[in-house]
Amino acid sequence: MLYGADYNPDQWPEDVWPEDVALMREAGVTTVSLGIFSWSRLQPSADTWDFAWLDRIIDLLHSGGIGVNLATATASAPPWMTTAHPDILAADENGSPYWHGSRQHHSPASPTWRRLAVELVRRLAERYGDHPGVVMWHVDNELGCHLNEDFSDAARDAFRVWLEKRYGSVDALNDAWGTAFWSQRYGSLDEVFPPRNAPFIRNPSQVLDYKRFMSDTWLDVFLDQKRIIREAGATQPISTNMMGAFPPADYASWAPHIDVITDDCYPDPLDPQRRFTTAFQRDLVRSLKRGTPWILMEQATDAVNWRPSNPSKMPGQLAAETAQSIGRGADGIMFFQWRQSRAGAEKFHSAMVPQAGRRTRTWKETVALGERLSALPELPTPADDAPVALVFDWENWWAVEGEGHPTRLDYLQLVRDWHAALVRRGVMVDIVPPEKVDSRYRLAIAPFLYLLRSAGAAALTSFVDAGGVLAAGPFTDIVDDNDRFRDGGFLTQLGPTLGVAFEDFRALVPPAREVVAERAGEEGSASAARNDPRAHVAFDGRLRGSGTVVAEAVWADDAEAVATFTAGPSEGRPAITRRAHGSGAAWYLATMPAPDSLDGVLGALLDDAGVAGEVGEIPADVEVARRGELLTIINHGTEPATVTAPGALLESGEPFGTRSLDPQGFVFALAPREGA
Ligand code: GAL
Repeated sequence: MLYGADYNPDQWPEDVWPEDVALMREAGVTTVSLGIFSWSRLQPSADTWDFAWLDRIIDLLHSGGIGVNLATATASAPPWMTTAHPDILAADENGSPYWHGSRQHHSPASPTWRRLAVELVRRLAERYGDHPGVVMWHVDNELGCHLNEDFSDAARDAFRVWLEKRYGSVDALNDAWGTAFWSQRYGSLDEVFPPRNAPFIRNPSQVLDYKRFMSDTWLDVFLDQKRIIREAGATQPISTNMMGAFPPADYASWAPHIDVITDDCYPDPLDPQRRFTTAFQRDLVRSLKRGTPWILMEQATDAVNWRPSNPSKMPGQLAAETAQSIGRGADGIMFFQWRQSRAGAEKFHSAMVPQAGRRTRTWKETVALGERLSALPELPTPADDAPVALVFDWENWWAVEGEGHPTRLDYLQLVRDWHAALVRRGVMVDIVPPEKVDSRYRLAIAPFLYLLRSAGAAALTSFVDAGGVLAAGPFTDIVDDNDRFRDGGFLTQLGPTLGVAFEDFRALVPPAREVVAERAGEEGSASAARNDPRAHVAFDGRLRGSGTVVAEAVWADDAEAVATFTAGPSEGRPAITRRAHGSGAAWYLATMPAPDSLDGVLGALLDDAGVAGEVGEIPADVEVARRGELLTIINHGTEPATVTAPGALLESGEPFGTRSLDPQGFVFALAPREGA
């Protein structure tokens, strides 16, 4: 189990370093991420390099028994560089450059930046590739975090090269983007730009390709640096820290290139769904490389400083959130950062060693956590045996939230709603793109899968053919890879499996226009509208409840209507259908079950698939996660909770039985899965 933090010794006089190492040992630190923002110190001018300080600190840490996750230090280009080479600056959608003075102001597509970054990485890798203290490589930092989009000239040129590779000719691009619409036909790729500022809805296929391009560009930065590190002979694992469901980066496509998945997670203390939001993130990153552990590369010991208001964590919350990571597959727990900065933009951000010193609750809690983690026996590998697949797909995310649709929706939140319902029941779930759905799962849920690639449709179809239970919809199987309708209507790929044909979308919106107007432009307005009871429509039948977002009109040609809309725009039409197929079944949801109805619908799907939660009844604030034989049981609430579970406590061997968990308390138990 790795335990540690980002370490920025270059912010401190060198005589602090020995104390740092001594304190790290006291806190149970095993590993630190070093040098993430050190470029201007390592290369103070174009022709000057200074590695001596880094030599000294790596040696000091190594002699103290602390491993180094060595950063490639490219996350913030020094001022001399942007002054000498303004072509490395990224630009916003109006083409205005970002300047130095913060971080991540460079264009990842700039050939000059790439050349300078590679030179730095080459020197680091040649110097430290075989240092016994370097246990891992940390490429850049949170690629794309602040700079989601880059509209610089460098990005424009690289976008054209990317398009040339994808389409081969401008005619193919014209066809893919449907440029016959609104006089957008291109005569040559040199006329194409990233979707810069425009007066009205931009070409959705162009926007989609641009998002693919940005994600690929950040990945390319990683691959470039990884190649250099390997060419220098370094053999340590190479990673880059992800940010969970981070919109601009299609991590599912990145994952095969990354040796070990590392993730940064900063739960929002004001999010009432926090424990579900974080459980989603942990399951998502675990699913990127199923059956292997991942590392929580950054979390805060206490408050962050970058939200509008930044409350502290409650006592014990840090440990409970840590247990959640471990329970959902993490084998490393790291923080941002080791010692609280005394200057700069993050001086109010918590750290393992707070500015207020070692009498603080934060220091005590992180030391106690380090102790508890270091005493744990080896944990079972996360087994690749979750019975449920929840389909989540970045390309679809980019496309389904596009402009000019029947309704605005918050795809991530809708998928999270399903996930939360599964977590509430203690059912383990992988979060995967449709192509990854296969017969290892018993139930697959694919909501709002608007852009469904043919390989994804084929996987979902074979899954049902092989006896799986699929629940698809609503707003699913609508466009191809280029965000164009397919020939033959909608549900053209899944329709035969579902036994359903599609007529119309029928968006549900609150009837009062002012509600929409009032919320327009406000973040989360789509989910606010979704929770508005006036945007709900009832259904009844074998299942009863209400739906939201859409009430599609479908024909259940070859399927049972499990529930029918009893009101609204599709009154009398099927709301939920099921088509039995061999030992499996294919369900179609013509609406999104509303929050009060989701669990009922999920229950029917789980029953159909023969899937049950890991333990029986779970109290409301309690979470149960399985990782191979390990059950992690956490009380996220503010009151004690009583839980009954099988197995024996990991740390003491006592039978679990029925026991009370303190607020924010957790236990690890060993309990082989029944029948395993
Ligand atoms: C992360 C970043 C760290 C630090 C941290 C603060 O996004 O990687 O460098 O800024 O946030 O919460």
